[in-house]
Amino acid sequence: MASPKRDFLRITDLDRGGVLELLERAAEWKLLGRGGPRPLAGMTIGLVFEKASTRTRVSFEVAAAQLGAGSTFLSPRDTQLGRGEPIQDTARVLSRYLDALVVRTFEHEKLARIAGYARVPVINALTDASHPCQVLADLLTTAERLGPEVLQRPGLRVAWIGDGNNMANSWLEACALLGFELSLACPSGYDPDPALLARCAGRARVVRSPAEAATGAHVINTDVWASMGQEAEQARRERDFAGFIVDEALVARARPEAIVLHCLPAHRGEEISEAVLEGPRSAIFDQAENRLHVQKALLELLLAGD
Ligand code: CP
Ligand code: NVA
Repeated sequence: MASPKRDFLRITDLDRGGVLELLERAAEWKLLGRGGPRPLAGMTIGLVFEKASTRTRVSFEVAAAQLGAGSTFLSPRDTQLGRGEPIQDTARVLSRYLDALVVRTFEHEKLARIAGYARVPVINALTDASHPCQVLADLLTTAERLGPEVLQRPGLRVAWIGDGNNMANSWLEACALLGFELSLACPSGYDPDPALLARCAGRARVVRSPAEAATGAHVINTDVWASMGQEAEQARRERDFAGFIVDEALVARARPEAIVLHCLPAHRGEEISEAVLEGPRSAIFDQAENRLHVQKALLELLLAGD
């Protein structure tokens, strides 16, 4: 009997061993580069994106191509989704043509409904609640820079500086699985999902001081103050996030070997200074590249069977 389709809607759709194995496989795909096997030959991946994207779109399209699959990009502007065709119909119809759906949308519940109706694996390419593919790339980058065992040893300290947003939530899920220490410095009113915080069983905490979170950290991580869909809140958020910039003074509080991560796109001079983004501690462009490698491992896992 065929095994049931497997979705990837959140980090915890994998278990601890599954995340570590996927990161190892991603490192192998990275070494293979543009060469390597084509386990998805004959397949086609659909990308259904209701928000803008540079990295996620291109890295999935290239990942599909390098694995031997085709891909098709579908925005609401070009499909009947934009004219109100229900997602339950769209998900079922697309499942008749395509082998996986990579979906970027607003409400996480909408993604879950698509996954419920689709007969093929659905991958979360970002929702308002989470961005698990990005955090897989962040974890690979952390292991590359700080040593392959760093995610498996106790003592890794990760700081999140800024909004308790979709990225922060996915880092909390990673914390719940892998057990590192996660300090999130968020202004009051911008905390991450409390249910995810509770799942970390004391290993994650929210503080109000970026300096407190950054001190002694191995990884300093940040993101925009206003995410996609929150553009109207930009001015208020700029006031509320004053003092939450990742600059050289903040990075100096971290360990000497600490790395700085940002999922991009970045606003230089807001959440991160130009000097840090371009500086020696920045792993940000490796992090962006690693989207490709982890997504090749993920597509292989979900689609290529044993
Ligand atoms: N980091 C990330 O997901 O970037 P895009 O919005 O460009 O896909
Ligand atoms: N938090 C950001 C991440 C962009 C990749 C957003 O949702 O816009």
